[in-house]
Amino acid sequence: MLGIGQPKQAVGLDIGSHSIKAVELKAVRGKEDSFLLKKIGYELLPPDAIVEGTIIDSAAVVETIKIIFDENKISNKNVAISISGNSVIIKKISLPSMESEELAESIIWEAKHNIPYPYEETNVDYAVLRPPDYSEDRNLDILLVAAKKDKIANYSNVINQARKNLDAIEVDVFALQNALELNYPEIFNNKTISIINLGANITNVIIVEKGIPQLFRDLSIGGSFFTENLSKDLSISFDDAEKLIKGLPVQNIQADQFKTVLNMSIQNLIDETEKTFSFYEAGEKTGRKIDFVFLSGGLSKLKDLRSNFEQKFNIKTEILNPFKRIEYDEKKFDSIYFDELYTLFGVATGLALRKTEK
Ligand SMILES: Nc1ncnc2c1ncn2[C@@H]1O[C@H](COP(=O)(O)OP(=O)(O)OP(=O)(O)O)[C@@H](O)[C@H]1O
Ligand SMILES: [Mg+2]
Repeated sequence: MLGIGQPKQAVGLDIGSHSIKAVELKAVRGKEDSFLLKKIGYELLPPDAIVEGTIIDSAAVVETIKIIFDENKISNKNVAISISGNSVIIKKISLPSMESEELAESIIWEAKHNIPYPYEETNVDYAVLRPPDYSEDRNLDILLVAAKKDKIANYSNVINQARKNLDAIEVDVFALQNALELNYPEIFNNKTISIINLGANITNVIIVEKGIPQLFRDLSIGGSFFTENLSKDLSISFDDAEKLIKGLPVQNIQADQFKTVLNMSIQNLIDETEKTFSFYEAGEKTGRKIDFVFLSGGLSKLKDLRSNFEQKFNIKTEILNPFKRIEYDEKKFDSIYFDELYTLFGVATGLALRKTEK
């Protein structure tokens, strides 16, 4: 009655180094996997607030979180956030079938041997993956996730200081995977897909085979790499470089000059992606092939990037729309979120799918 006892959704809060995004969803009663957009928010961060994945200026981040909640009238205090980068390690391991107690012991052993950080300095979690349809062996495929404790503390501190309740800390790539599964269930469950989330400092690459995760990589390349190259090679300010990649004109810069520098950055990004794809394709079983690529994140808005990927890899490439199957009241929200900014909200939407226990 009155929704009492029905678990609420946490607010998905994606704290990126360029901007913070928030999404709150409401599960539609009686309709599985059906959600209504309740709140949404987006705010830029000052350039040096988060450097190389570490929150340096926590006051600025706290302030920005407060602004997002206040301006968009988000009253739900339970938030789910995510982390990524080199202080998060995800490994897929295979273990013989065993009882859960024994498994817990083995996981500790595996973590100690697979994680390049002292075990005491990390938080370790794991998930047993559903065996693929073709599999006849009785091994357990396990996804091992370890995150450095100082990274977790760094991010949870700002949530506490912003007076929110930290409901869950996830990893960017899992949140993205959830957003894709909700919005493109047929492709997600039947194809081998790659999601490439192009942020400011990090590009997350994920490969999922018929709904089963296969590979995760965080590449240290993103929009900032593009703007730094432009600013250096064309001797322009960082702000002007940012304008150029957004397709805006900058005085005294000719289109062909800009294109040459830009193409070098695109080539770099494609080379890094190709290494990850090749690593996957050369993996344990033959005939592995990616059927579908989804691009997301701010840099995926770069003009022609989608077609560049499609041509280079000869794989169908689409921009991930995290609101594709989410209902929303058009009168309630600025259309800019759905027309122009939707590509930024993959991680926040995936996080917002979590139910809160509070
Ligand atoms: N229209 C556009 N065209 C090209 N690039 C854009 C556009 N809009 C934003 N960007 C770039 O996208 C990046 C920001 O994307 P996003 O919001 O996904 O990053 P973030 O989540 O804050 O960063 P990260 O996850 O890497 O810490 C910036 O580098 C910005 O320059
Ligand atoms: Mg991001």
